[in-house]
Amino acid sequence: MKTKIIEIDPQAIDLDKLSEAAEVLRNGGTVAFPTETVYGLGANALDEAALRKIFEAKGRPSDNPLIVHIAQKEDVYPLVADVPEKVTLLMEKFWPGPLTMIFRKSAAVPHIITAGLDTVAIRMPSHPVARLLIEKAGVPVAAPSANLSGKPSPTRGCHVVEDLLGRIDVIINGGDCSVGLESTVLDVTGEVPMILRPGGITKEALEEVLGEVSVDAALERKNETSLIPKSPGMKYTHYAPKAEVIVVEGDMESIVRKIRQLQQEKEKAGLKAGIMATDETKDQYENGLVISMGSRKRPETITHRLFRVLRDFDDQGVDVILAEAVERKGLGDAIMNRLLKAAGYHVIRGNGGEIK
Ligand code: TXA
Ligand code: MG
Repeated sequence: MKTKIIEIDPQAIDLDKLSEAAEVLRNGGTVAFPTETVYGLGANALDEAALRKIFEAKGRPSDNPLIVHIAQKEDVYPLVADVPEKVTLLMEKFWPGPLTMIFRKSAAVPHIITAGLDTVAIRMPSHPVARLLIEKAGVPVAAPSANLSGKPSPTRGCHVVEDLLGRIDVIINGGDCSVGLESTVLDVTGEVPMILRPGGITKEALEEVLGEVSVDAALERKNETSLIPKSPGMKYTHYAPKAEVIVVEGDMESIVRKIRQLQQEKEKAGLKAGIMATDETKDQYENGLVISMGSRKRPETITHRLFRVLRDFDDQGVDVILAEAVERKGLGDAIMNRLLKAAGYHVIRGNGGEIK
């Protein structure tokens, strides 16, 4: 398949180019596009044949449901059975933006999107290219992240080209994604809303609107637990670069000491090690390949770069990535969720002890 790459500047959107991509979507084709979180691989959410192409292109298991993206808040109503009252508050506060909500579905939503569940995930993105593309297509757009299944989500156009060139109809290159991590997935079908995937909107921010918010217990556990995550996608190995990833946890001093020791050990064993540091620590590593994820004081700089740094280490051909843990609060929760998944939950404590 020939993939057309369309360059669009989000600051000065070329409407002719955007309409061309919207036409492909409307006619049952597949289009990768930038959102504020990560790039999405879109298809007409009401066209089953188009939706099948998404699963094929990504190599995505068919039991993993898709998020439906809309351009206007009112577009949610035909897709859902009901909108609980407190959810309208969330829509007002966080849409457009990196919050996906799980509703009871209406008959309009094809089963292939929901993988047979009676609920549907919906998000209204804030990225101007995404918004305008969906609006021009005139249909809701189903879109998972635009990576091959299992790889880190794409946060730059070149990541999508690397994964999906020749597998989809169009790639819109619209620059870097600002948030850099996928949306928060919040189930609003129950009495107390539950976070199924931590993301760009923090638990603390949701609690300010809702009061009580719960977190899917399966998120706290390791891979091999008997608890099955309520969000089907969370059970798969994910975000995995080619290199082995080891996360080192503890206070900053012990993290640095442990990583330096591991680096020496790995290099003695003939392996190329990469260190995933932070702005606060990066100068404390004397040699080897060190890339900072961003600043611990400004975790949004880390979310912005996390997936990109994982891919950059792969480009450098490292065998093992030694990654610093961050504090699990606010955005740190989502950062650690992705890092631990990338590491297959291989965590070492800076001050001794290994949690496998
Ligand atoms: O930021 C994002 O959410 C990006 C951009 C493109 O919008 N999309 C994204 O899609 O991350 P995807 O498919 O990579 O992740 C969607 C997650 C999966 O974990 C999936 O299992 C979950 O949402 N999900 C979708 N529908 C669901 C449902 N009805 N119930 C529970 N989880 C659902
Ligand atoms: Mg994904």
